Amino acid sequence: MAIIDGKKLAGEIRAELAGQVEELVANGGNAPHLAAVLVGDDPASQVYVRNKVRSCEKAGFRSTLIRKPADVSEAELLAIVDQLNNDASVDGFIVQLPLPRHINEEKVTLAIYPAKDVDGFHPVNFGRMAQGLPCYLPATPAGILEMIRRYDIPTEGKEVVVIGRSNIVGTPISILLSRKDYPGNATVTICHSRTKGLENHTRRADILIAAIGSPEFVKGDMVKEGVVVIDVGMNRVEEPDTEKGYRLCGDVHFDSVAPKASLITPVPGGVGQLTVVSLLINTLKAARREVYRT
Ligand code: GUN
Repeated sequence: MAIIDGKKLAGEIRAELAGQVEELVANGGNAPHLAAVLVGDDPASQVYVRNKVRSCEKAGFRSTLIRKPADVSEAELLAIVDQLNNDASVDGFIVQLPLPRHINEEKVTLAIYPAKDVDGFHPVNFGRMAQGLPCYLPATPAGILEMIRRYDIPTEGKEVVVIGRSNIVGTPISILLSRKDYPGNATVTICHSRTKGLENHTRRADILIAAIGSPEFVKGDMVKEGVVVIDVGMNRVEEPDTEKGYRLCGDVHFDSVAPKASLITPVPGGVGQLTVVSLLINTLKAARREVYRT
C-alpha cells in the first residue's frame, strides 16, 4: 500500500505555477488575480477560503478576499458579483458555498460570467466540460485527474466506481473519466443514496472515488485487494476530549481500507490540497485568456 501525498504534489504544482507567473510578469503581463467572496462565518468555509488565498500568495498570484456578514441580502451579493464581473483587474473569482439559506445559490452561480467562473460551476462551463470543449474544470475533479496523471495510474478499460452524484464532484468526475482521453476511457459506475447493493458495485472497483460527505462510510469489506482509493470527503467528527473538540476524516475508513489498497489518498493531506491548486490553474488560464478570448 502506498499513500498519495497530496501536499507534496500540490507543492510541486504550485512551484511550476509560480514559474509560469514569473514568466508572465517578465513578459509584461500582470500576475493573475483571484477574488473570493465569503459570506458568514461557517468555520469550514473560512478555512477553505483562507487556504485558497494563502495558496495564491505562495504562487505569486494576487488575491482579494471580500467578506460579508451572514445577513447580507441577495441583492447586495448579486451587486458584488456584478462588480467583479466588470472589474478588469480581476481575472477570476469564486463565491464560497454554501451560502445562507435566504440566498439562492443557483441565482448567484448563474450571475457569474462564465469567463470569470474559475470554480467551473456555471452551466456554460459544465456543458463545455461535458462536451470536451475548452473550459474551467471544476476544481476537485481537476485535482483528481492531476493526481491520476502524476501517479501514472492506468484508467483505460478500468472499472471506476464513484459514490456520490453532486454537481461539484461525483457527476463531473464520472463524465471526465469516461471520455476518450487519459485520464479516461474507464467504465464508470455512479452510486448514490438509492443504489441497491452498494458493496456489490464498490467491490468491483479498480478505482473507487468516494464523494458523499459521510464520515468513514467506505469500510474495508467493501473494496477489493489492490484498489486505488480516492477519498474526497472532508468531515468533522466531534471528539470532545481533544483540544480542538473535533477531528477531520474522509468518507473512507482509512484503517480498514488502506491495507487492501494499492494506493490511497489520506484526509487531510490528499485531494483537498489539489483542489486549491486547480483553482490557481484556472485563474492562470483566465489571466492568459486561454478559455475565453475576451
Ligand atoms: N464549497 C465547497 N467546495 C467549494 C468549491 O470548490 N468552491 C466554492 N465556491 N465553494 C465550495
